[in-house]
Amino acid sequence: MSVCLYPGSFDPVTNGHMDIIRRAARLFDTLYVGVLYNPDKHGLFSPEERAEMLKEACSDIGNVKCVLWDGLTAALCRELHADAIVRGVRGTADLEYEKSMAALNKMLLPGLDTVFFPANAAFEHISSSYVKQIASFGGDITEMVPECVKAPVTNKYKNIKGGKKDV
Ligand code: COA
Repeated sequence: MSVCLYPGSFDPVTNGHMDIIRRAARLFDTLYVGVLYNPDKHGLFSPEERAEMLKEACSDIGNVKCVLWDGLTAALCRELHADAIVRGVRGTADLEYEKSMAALNKMLLPGLDTVFFPANAAFEHISSSYVKQIASFGGDITEMVPECVKAPVTNKYKNIKGGKKDV
């Protein structure tokens, strides 16, 4: 039985992530989607909130399980008996970063490979950061995130008002 892990910050999950999840779920028997900690990022949502949104967004995909993990990706793979890591790649900048992570994860857990999925052109400009930035200025994120993610994101910014300022 093939088991793989798609780790990420998912702050929040976007339609770009969902495209990778659906494609990977067709190739592996079990796909774990893990909310992990990226020490370089400060989250808008707590890890628990991110995992809850992910779980709801993936509820119609039978072989996907959502997990929350505070530790190394390689250690979670060992724990889950995962054969591979899945990551989406949007372009050359992503690829350089992903190649390093894949190599380091393989050093930490020999035999662990990373499978790269090229991002769907329709989603390659979407990122969690842009979704948050657009929502923070009152922009419409409907086309960028799963339905269940839209309200939680816009609610985070409902008291922030932008617009013209007199100087
Ligand atoms: N379509 C659209 N956007 C995509 C995408 C796709 N297919 N794939 C990724 N993205 C975007 C995300 O929205 C995100 O945007 P952001 O930077 O604005 O948040 C960005 O690309 C990548 O984010 P994500 O996929 O969530 O991953 P990450 O780089 O934040 O996560 C971890 C990295 C969590 C996997 C990594 O830090 C980790 O493994 N942490 C655990 C500790 C560890 O093991 N460290 C050693 C690693 S070698």
